[in-house]
Amino acid sequence: MKDYAIGVFDSGVGGLTCVKELKQILPNENVIYLGDTARIPYGTKSGDTVYGYALQDARFLEEHKVKMFIVACGTVSSVMMKRPVFDKKKLCTGVVYPAVAEALKKTKNKRIGVIGTSATIKSKAYEQAINDIAPDVKVVTKACPMFVPLVENGYTSPDDPISTAISRDYLNVMIDEEVDTLIMGCTHYPHLKGVFENVLGSGVSLVSSGAEAAKFAKRVLQNENLLSDRKEEGRLELYCTDSVELFTENVETFLGHNINAAISQCVLK
Ligand code: DGL
Repeated sequence: MKDYAIGVFDSGVGGLTCVKELKQILPNENVIYLGDTARIPYGTKSGDTVYGYALQDARFLEEHKVKMFIVACGTVSSVMMKRPVFDKKKLCTGVVYPAVAEALKKTKNKRIGVIGTSATIKSKAYEQAINDIAPDVKVVTKACPMFVPLVENGYTSPDDPISTAISRDYLNVMIDEEVDTLIMGCTHYPHLKGVFENVLGSGVSLVSSGAEAAKFAKRVLQNENLLSDRKEEGRLELYCTDSVELFTENVETFLGHNINAAISQCVLK
């Protein structure tokens, strides 16, 4: 079991923010990643539709030898707080609680911002998770539906004029409300971190939900004594449901050109 892989999924390249962190903190682990690129975006769809997709994504990963699952998608993580997509006996985490725990550690003025897809913000999952632990924290939320297409199409450079203009529009409320910590509640958004830093300035700490989920998974595997004893670098297997060419381009942009990974297309049942 220790040598089984960590299974990760998202609708597209967003979950790679989690994979990148996993490769850094657990370089000897095998990782299997699924990006459901044929059906992206999830974040504009209804909870029922997202739940149906998530069950298929989960089933795909369950067909592989996986010791822990990471739902590296803020949208699915929010929806599954009410309807789990994995059997309770399986080791699994979404991104909401790991990101919330980090944001609560970081905030000094008790004003936390959350940006996410429309479905995530509508679910109120982050707000509820924060206020369940800390009722005195003010939570400011904003749905940012334009960010996912910007990321999937590569508009991620910190000085990109289009991403900057859209970020200013979306993030103004965070400046007005004086949040000191902003949860990037959609795993695509850390790809725009440089743009957000330019727009918000240095007074706001950014929390990557995907990276926090990776750190949380490490702690869980440590506690369960399930970290691999492998000495060599772990294997990275990537699957997408649409064209491999487009996905490969994106993977190389976000994980680097020297990434040693097998990339294949798959069909979800
Ligand atoms: N990366 C995903 C999330 O964290 C989904 C984005 C989308 O498909 O809309 O919400």
